[in-house]
Amino acid sequence: MQMQTVVSETPEALAHSVAVYFTEKVNEILNDQESCSIALSGGVTPHLVFSLLADEPYKSLIAWDRLYFFWGDERCVPPEHPESNFRTAWEGMLYRVPVQADHVYRMPADQFGSDEAAQAYENTLRDFFKTPPPGFPRFDLLFLGMGADGHVASLFPGSGTLDEKSRCVVPVPADEDPQKLARLTLTLPVLNHARNVLFVVQGSNKAWAVKTVLEGNRGAKGGWPLPAQRIQPLEGSLHWFLDRTAAASLSLEREKHPVEA
Ligand code: 6PG
Repeated sequence: MQMQTVVSETPEALAHSVAVYFTEKVNEILNDQESCSIALSGGVTPHLVFSLLADEPYKSLIAWDRLYFFWGDERCVPPEHPESNFRTAWEGMLYRVPVQADHVYRMPADQFGSDEAAQAYENTLRDFFKTPPPGFPRFDLLFLGMGADGHVASLFPGSGTLDEKSRCVVPVPADEDPQKLARLTLTLPVLNHARNVLFVVQGSNKAWAVKTVLEGNRGAKGGWPLPAQRIQPLEGSLHWFLDRTAAASLSLEREKHPVEA
């Protein structure tokens, strides 16, 4: 697994670093294949990245009609709800760029029961990627954020969803979420099958989790206590894009010299 950590001075510089990487990686992928599959993360951090990509100079550098968009997780709310990850990406980027509407695969987290919705999205993924069980969909690009508790997507510390080995998408009960929102989430096998994984993390409240993930050890029982520690792409690259405050607890070497590890 190829890993890279990049530390930017400010959230704005971080967003530009991510936009540059995204543009270059997408164009590299589209040089080799017809289309590019991208799973987006939720939360607040991606807002600035979405906005940059929908503006120049990045917008016209990207062949939007060859991109296919999915989500890593979603809250069980309607798409127009303020907490919807789909709404964040749609309003921040997708409606402002020439992506084809039938290339945007929203998680139906607000429809039917959450287990049925999870199965429906799993079917969508397996059909699109042509990966029946026991295979797993393989995203070309996977955006991830991280919570201050080290959660990734909607995989929260101590959750049984972390042990899912065969399903691609599972429901997450509201009581597992500090925000008390029921959710759907991709599972670790799917996340770890991605070709290129990007963590985008900012804010001093993430510094402890960042240090634990990037410099911490296994837990007492030999496991990885934080979900984000379990993002270890099987045959993919892993990139950590941090702002200075999120990287503040990292050892000086790593912080001063972003390393190609
Ligand atoms: C979600 C996200 C989640 C997010 C982290 C960081 O739906 O909540 O997918 O995994 O990426 O919680 O969120 P912030 O960027 O808002 O700190």
